[in-house]
Amino acid sequence: MERIARLIENNRCWSERKTIEDPNFFVDLATQQNPDFLWIGCSDSRVEASRIVGMSPGEIFVHRNVANLVGHTDINCLSVIQFAVEVLQIEHIIVCGHYGCGGVRAALETDSHGLIDNWLRNIRETSHLFAAELNAITDTSKKIDRLCELNVARQVLNVCETTIVLDAWNRGQKLMVHGWIYGLDDGLIRDLGYTNMGENEATRFRVDFMAGKENSRVTKKERD
Ligand code: CO
Repeated sequence: MERIARLIENNRCWSERKTIEDPNFFVDLATQQNPDFLWIGCSDSRVEASRIVGMSPGEIFVHRNVANLVGHTDINCLSVIQFAVEVLQIEHIIVCGHYGCGGVRAALETDSHGLIDNWLRNIRETSHLFAAELNAITDTSKKIDRLCELNVARQVLNVCETTIVLDAWNRGQKLMVHGWIYGLDDGLIRDLGYTNMGENEATRFRVDFMAGKENSRVTKKERD
């Protein structure tokens, strides 16, 4: 019970500190939120969206699930994207995966994990598309990390192919979809070079991806 009580106590201290720094902080925030970014990330407790990019409350709209997946029948994720794009008029959607993702690792394993294997199915399909490249990597953690990157590419594509994003582009709305990956061991984000700004670009991205080719605009070396 003490540990849970500590959360409420921490919250009081945080609220006090924020109010000392800026007496109007919560008053201003309560009237409206005007974030510039939608973050789609993993539920992993170590990848805390706003904190790792130095954002304050109100600056980033967040959706998180296991292995940062965007499913076209996931009403939860789709509703977040719709609200972000159509109501908040966000210009940047960031899919941010992370190296060493447990969900990606589970998708590579052959033994059963129960219900979550259904959720992770999309990652397994990506591993099949890129089987030749992945099978050539003998180090298991490197193989997982590479699939973490490819999973980000796949989810960027999934975002681009939602009706919400396609409709926004057709209306001429400015909207960019980015693919990033976060390193748990150094706290750094790498831009994977998967940024898409329109339907034609996304279509080319899809054709390459389905042929087992990564359509990145930065090289692996630049990323490291
Ligand atoms: Co993860």
